[in-house]
Amino acid sequence: MTHQVRAVVARGKGAPVSLETIVVPDPGPGEALVKVEACGVCHTDLHYREGGINDDFPFLLGHEAAGVVESVGEGVTDVAPGDFVILNWRAVCGNCRACRRGRPQYCFNTHNAKQKMTLLDGTELSPALGIGAFAEKTLVAAGQCTKVDRAASAAAAGLLGCGVMAGIGAAINTGNVGRGDSVAVIGCGGVGDAAIAGSRLAGAARIIAVDIDDRKLEKARSLGATHTVNSKESDAVEAIRELTGGFGADVVIEAVGRPETYKQAFYGRDLAGTVVLVGVPTPEMKLELPLLDVFGRGGSLKSSWYGDCLPSRDFPMLIDLYLQGRLDLDAFVTETIALEDVEKAFERMHGGDVLRSVVVF
Ligand code: APR
Ligand code: ZN
Ligand code: ZN
Repeated sequence: MTHQVRAVVARGKGAPVSLETIVVPDPGPGEALVKVEACGVCHTDLHYREGGINDDFPFLLGHEAAGVVESVGEGVTDVAPGDFVILNWRAVCGNCRACRRGRPQYCFNTHNAKQKMTLLDGTELSPALGIGAFAEKTLVAAGQCTKVDRAASAAAAGLLGCGVMAGIGAAINTGNVGRGDSVAVIGCGGVGDAAIAGSRLAGAARIIAVDIDDRKLEKARSLGATHTVNSKESDAVEAIRELTGGFGADVVIEAVGRPETYKQAFYGRDLAGTVVLVGVPTPEMKLELPLLDVFGRGGSLKSSWYGDCLPSRDFPMLIDLYLQGRLDLDAFVTETIALEDVEKAFERMHGGDVLRSVVVF
């Protein structure tokens, strides 16, 4: 059997997305068909539409999603029809060198659904990040589904599937933020704000938010920042040092993805502190640092890939914290929109007042 559903498709480089009817096959071995309930609009979707990822148009966009498993294929035992799940874009293999060494977050043998979703004329779709959830139903690998408590709002839960997990994970997994630590977060968009929320969860005593936009700083405060620095008005490094008794922060999280903000992170940390790069640089960007400073300052420089998350460990835990009122995921949902409004959400993305627009079905 196949299913015909409405979906948001990017047909060509830079062209506005269109609402299409697509054909979704029943799940094959190891696959699951998910009825999507909500899916956030992420910068990466726009990046796909602009041709910045690759040229495999048409793309079926959307990847920050939660929904209910409708049916599963042969051999699927981890999830069952009726389960409320968050989708992830890294279903690890379990067999490669990284997986066998207990570091599945570095598995690059990840897999998506094998069968193809298509347009009505049979043209194969490339699902964004192997998910494609701006669709009433989508086909994924069962390993991309993590069951969580049904009591969570789908709009909030879906955000854990990408940007919010990246930020929280940068703090709690990669940065290893601990009780009493001082943390600085440079760049307070969705990812940086999530790093702030994660630092608060981890028990950081001092959380310094750095941004160039006062509105962002205000929002950061509501998520747990104890101090804010507008780095257009004052020097970020000096301000961070001043707020940490002259030392610098134990952990600095860079959530912009630019050489100048990375430098601020590098010099804004305490000797032997940790810098976490979660902002994604472009291929042209280069970083120049005196090697003597790298040597002399010690500590560690890390990058955070998908928040170093393990969906099966992190998603249910974070949903529990959310349901207990200890992690405000709803704060990341700026607006809920209809499927036909994804293009408008792309336009609003650069306005500075939207953390996440979320399509709710
Ligand atoms: N210094 C400080 N903050 C800055 C600077 C700067 N020079 N330039 C931009 N910012 C702030 C913006 O004002 C905004 O609040 O960084 C924030 C970026 O937020 P978003 O554009 O909403 O991006 P976000 O979704 O948070 O992602 C941030 O992480 O995962 C990556 O690809 C993603 O590189 C991106 C980064
Ligand atoms: Zn693997
Ligand atoms: Zn994303």
